[in-house]
Amino acid sequence: MADVTLRNIHKSFGELEIIKGVDLDVTDNEFVVFVGPSGCGKSTLLRLIAGLEDITAGDLSIDGQVVNDLPPAQRGIAMVFQSYALYPHMTVQENMAFGLKLAKESRQSIDQKVGDAARILQLEELLKRKPKELSGGQRQRVAIGRAIVRNPKVFLFDEPLSNLDAALRVQMRIEIARLHEDLNATMIYVTHDQIEAMTLADKIVVLNAGVVEQVGSPLELYHHPHNLFVAGFIGSPKMNFMTTSVTGVSGDSATVSLPGGAAITVPVQGGRLKAGDDVTLGIRPEHMMEGGGGDAQMPGSVFVVERLGGETYLYVRGGTDDLITLQAGGDSTAKSGDTVSIGIAASTCHLFDADGIAVSRIERHPLADVGRGKGPGSRAETPAEAG
Ligand SMILES: Nc1ncnc2c1ncn2[C@@H]1O[C@H](COP(=O)(O)OP(=O)(O)O)[C@@H](O)[C@H]1O
Ligand SMILES: [Mg+2]
Repeated sequence: MADVTLRNIHKSFGELEIIKGVDLDVTDNEFVVFVGPSGCGKSTLLRLIAGLEDITAGDLSIDGQVVNDLPPAQRGIAMVFQSYALYPHMTVQENMAFGLKLAKESRQSIDQKVGDAARILQLEELLKRKPKELSGGQRQRVAIGRAIVRNPKVFLFDEPLSNLDAALRVQMRIEIARLHEDLNATMIYVTHDQIEAMTLADKIVVLNAGVVEQVGSPLELYHHPHNLFVAGFIGSPKMNFMTTSVTGVSGDSATVSLPGGAAITVPVQGGRLKAGDDVTLGIRPEHMMEGGGGDAQMPGSVFVVERLGGETYLYVRGGTDDLITLQAGGDSTAKSGDTVSIGIAASTCHLFDADGIAVSRIERHPLADVGRGKGPGSRAETPAEAG
């Protein structure tokens, strides 16, 4: 068992408060990803869990035991960094064995553990090489191997793939997902890459300026973001936001006007809104239909076209402050200067009140409680469970 529990964790450096009261439950075997913009406190939070920084206030527990004052080596954790931090003069074998040697393990036990890790990570052929004779991906595998041999209760990763090129990142991402399944270990993983977060996580923690904005499964955050920050952060290209106002409400809908004059009735718990309220309408690029369709249409003028082959992004001027991003098919013939009609389905709309808080959607998405790659039996944390 390796639960990690954070209760009202605060961290200040001098006068500056960086982590502002974080509560979090990481359950045994879970893959939890911290995402958020650069400087929001992701690494700091990880280093607090590792014991590399002192906690200013709050309680950190591992397996029910408060470990605030326990030194890193006694917490049963291993950390993998972005900079692989390998010893350049040691071979792969020696790098992986180093911590075990320091802990005075027997030669036989060390060989066994390093051999096992090398097999899991496909490093067996490389054990005699020095780090400079390895590719970036291989070096990162050695760094992960060095963590595995310690048989930690919890693995901590701080942007482990950021130094790799795009193709290698995809490959290592898949390897890390496999590793999590093979090792049955609790993993906490920091990244600013939302594709990594979406694909690896059972549970994503969205951080912003030292505060948790939302915790949930990847698809919960995608389909039910609690606020404008999460809505804008999860999903790529990012959600389109349009400021507008409410023209009518009922218990299970709110009607708002669209740029261009049409109205759309969005299935949300409209009861807490009233006519005249300022709201923000959010629609993802992949939900905007080139050429119209759905429940309402808005006109626009194509400003820039990006053809990616599989899909086409249209950046459209449509009576909003920002350009509207529309994801069209790869065979879209749109060109700049064209007039387009954008179709919108009410069920794909998100609505946020004047404080930027989401107005709850009526239909809960069927996959919102499902963790990474798992069947519906495996639930990530749901709001009901979170209390
Ligand atoms: N040792 C430190 N002393 C002072 N400020 C720090 C220290 N470590 C981090 N910070 C500050 O804390 C904030 C969060 O940093 P960090 O956790 O590294 O962000 P992230 O990993 O999300 O990019 C930053 O503003 C950073 O400058
Ligand atoms: Mg960081």
